[in-house]
Amino acid sequence: MKILTIVGARPQFIKAAAVSRVLRERFQEVLVHTGQHYDGNMSQVFFDELEIPRPDVNLGIGSGGHGAQTGAMLAAIEAILLKEKPHRVLVYGDTNSTLAGALAAVKLHVPVAHVEAGLRSFNRRMPEEINRILTDHVADLLFCPSETAVANLAAEGITRGVHPVGDVMHEALMHAVAMAERKSGILDRLHLVPGGYALATIHRAENTDDSVRLAHLVETLREVSLRMPVIFPVHPRTRVQLQAGGGGAGSSAGGDLRMIDPVGYLDMVRLEGGASVILTDSGGIQKEAYWLRVPCVTLRAETEWVETVQQGWNALAGGDRDLILRGALARVRPADGPDAYRGSGSVERLVQALGGDRAP
Ligand code: UD1
Ligand code: UDP
Repeated sequence: MKILTIVGARPQFIKAAAVSRVLRERFQEVLVHTGQHYDGNMSQVFFDELEIPRPDVNLGIGSGGHGAQTGAMLAAIEAILLKEKPHRVLVYGDTNSTLAGALAAVKLHVPVAHVEAGLRSFNRRMPEEINRILTDHVADLLFCPSETAVANLAAEGITRGVHPVGDVMHEALMHAVAMAERKSGILDRLHLVPGGYALATIHRAENTDDSVRLAHLVETLREVSLRMPVIFPVHPRTRVQLQAGGGGAGSSAGGDLRMIDPVGYLDMVRLEGGASVILTDSGGIQKEAYWLRVPCVTLRAETEWVETVQQGWNALAGGDRDLILRGALARVRPADGPDAYRGSGSVERLVQALGGDRAP
């Protein structure tokens, strides 16, 4: 069976690293990179470090408005599908690359398999929420990372083809943790001691597109940094907005807020594991914090990963300065519970389900 996998953005490379390794033992895979992320530290570094097979095709679409970017991907992916004639298309997550891949495939009657199906924030102002809903409604195979995701799909009338395989990101993370211990020197390079600093990331449109909100968040991180160093690998989207807003480095004096370039996955995993708290609006990083048992403060009003909040590892703070500071300094550590995302064995379950009964 021939599977055509579509990736384009940083978190998709990381998930594909875990899945491709196993998938290729059983099926033929054609890997298509849309080019949504293209800077070396947003793309190539993951292929190199995680030994992801070189993409068979890079569409080189690059950045743009939602319409232009998604439209260009749609046309380019359609052409590849007509040429490659895969039996299934595999898409990950909720980016514009995900939606373009799913739409192009379904129009050509190629079954779509969606990894991370069923997640909902119930906030339709998020571009990701639109991408997820549309992708789930055209998918034939829906790989859910949680019971909540299964229930969300059922509430929308989707019950066929739903497979609660668990979250494949867990395997990507565990693989990287072992490698990072041997290969990452970032704590020494930044003169950090485990447990002695906070880690922060911000990239969501809701936090970056409004320059006042972004400046307020950065200022709040600087306040946290009066108590401990805050390491802030800055996403290119955020960098662009900070530059447009005049730097946005905040006004309070002092502190140790270190804005650095995005880092590779091994350095990131090392930074996460050593952090005393993580402040983020990233979906992937909320889960990584949960699995690594590092308290997390989410810089959003809602999350798709509700179990991390229910189990006490994650606090939703939105942009509220007091909640952010309280969460960062309290660093609550609840008792250990079971993995709500059934990470262990998830890739194997996914690949099994992908073959299914109908495997040609
Ligand atoms: C995208 C996804 C988001 C995901 C994130 C992961 C959509 C709608 N959003 O957001 O769900 O969480 O990826 O990181 O698909 N840029 C560069 N270099 C790059 C990539 C981007 O400079 O290699 C800059 C460009 O100015 C670009 C901006 O970042 O316009 C935003 O990039 P884009 O891919 O559109 O969205 P992300 O914010 O990265
Ligand atoms: N990540 C990374 N380097 C960074 C920032 C993030 O390797 O400088 C990893 C992070 O550990 C996680 C993934 O990228 O696995 C999350 O990507 P992002 O936050 O961009 O997207 P989201 O998960 O919110 O869609």
